Amino acid sequence: MSGIPVSDVDLYTDAARVDPYAIYEELRARGPVVYLSRYDMYALPRYDEVRSALMDWQAFSSARGVFVDREVNARLEGLTLCSDPPEHTAMRTVLGRPLRADRMREVTPRIEAEADRVVERVVGQGRCEVVTELAEYLPMSVVSDLVGLPEQGREKMLEWAAAIWNTQGPADERAAAAGPAVEEFMSFAVNDAVPGRIHPDGWAAQLYEAADRGEIAPDKCPVMMLDYVTPSLDTTILAIANTVALFAQHPDQWELLRDDRSLIPHAINESLRLESPVPQFSRLLTEDHEIGGVELSAGSRVALLYASGNRDDRHYPDPTRFDITRRPSDHLAFGRGEHVCVGMHLARLEMGALLERLADRVARFDILDSRPVINNGLRGFDYLDVAFEPAAA
Ligand code: HEM
Repeated sequence: MSGIPVSDVDLYTDAARVDPYAIYEELRARGPVVYLSRYDMYALPRYDEVRSALMDWQAFSSARGVFVDREVNARLEGLTLCSDPPEHTAMRTVLGRPLRADRMREVTPRIEAEADRVVERVVGQGRCEVVTELAEYLPMSVVSDLVGLPEQGREKMLEWAAAIWNTQGPADERAAAAGPAVEEFMSFAVNDAVPGRIHPDGWAAQLYEAADRGEIAPDKCPVMMLDYVTPSLDTTILAIANTVALFAQHPDQWELLRDDRSLIPHAINESLRLESPVPQFSRLLTEDHEIGGVELSAGSRVALLYASGNRDDRHYPDPTRFDITRRPSDHLAFGRGEHVCVGMHLARLEMGALLERLADRVARFDILDSRPVINNGLRGFDYLDVAFEPAAA
């Protein structure tokens, strides 16, 4: 391990979960790869190395898990997220069918109508708690319907999903506390969200149809149903709340967006770049591999720090500035390569629909109060109280 900087920094304290950026900066300064001694894991904190690792699934394998803890990783082997081609390709093809960019046209009218409804309501109130009243609305109502989930269980979805994300870090108290909710969620997937109880036209039903056609193994259906739920709710909810907060903090950028709606897709990318809801996943090296002049051994776990790469000034000039004209479409917040977020078109659609309607109705946002999420796999707001200055009619 000679030549590799070593750090005993803890990325899982409450303070680091809330604001990891000073740690990331220090890690980027230490080198292209840093050994994190607390977790017996290497970290890639800079943009170029994260991106290269994402594009090389043969060396940087997902099949032995993408989280931190060895036991959790062993349990997750075989999920879409935790598999390599060719198994991964087969699962992703089926999973991704309803989420393809061209299929989003079918759900756009519904999402736009719901976005209209929720924005009219919250702006009419003059103020709202953005996380529960605005950001949760589309992912919770529309996505649960599209997946075709049974009614019972829906109200527990956020609790269950947050629990799964909490198992992403080391085996700490947050992970231990998540255990019972993770069990409940698995039981819901295996026993309740099954044919006869799910909506026959929903995405979950399409998984079981694909299994009937022999495209995937039938025992994959429950965990693939979870792929529509676990990564789709909190991620998008946090991204929406982060975006509102960024525009509240940068009223000049909100004015720019209101004047030129073609900036909306770039604003979404810039928000995801600067405040990435999923700060990292990891990979396991399948072979000895050289990174930035140093050799890592096969079997090493390597954390890909997406949120750090997204603030690397080697790649993004003045990286802490929120600038919606920057057009950072190459950001790492959705990953890249084989496992690039399969739900990104839906997430963009939901975020864009809300921004479009907020831009019609809101001249300015003011943050009244906020509280961060503390979770081992996610970053953003748990609570964001905002006042709206209505746009002139
Ligand atoms: C702003 C919102 C979102 C963010 C920031 C996000 C982030 C990510 C990231 C970083 C990955 C890459 C995983 C890796 O590198 O191993 C990923 C994969 C994934 N995402 Fe998303 N995601 C979002 C929304 C969604 C939605 C709406 C869905 C589903 C409807 C979804 C489903 C998935 C699935 C199933 C994977 C695994 C893909 C694979 O392994 O091939 N995500 N997401």
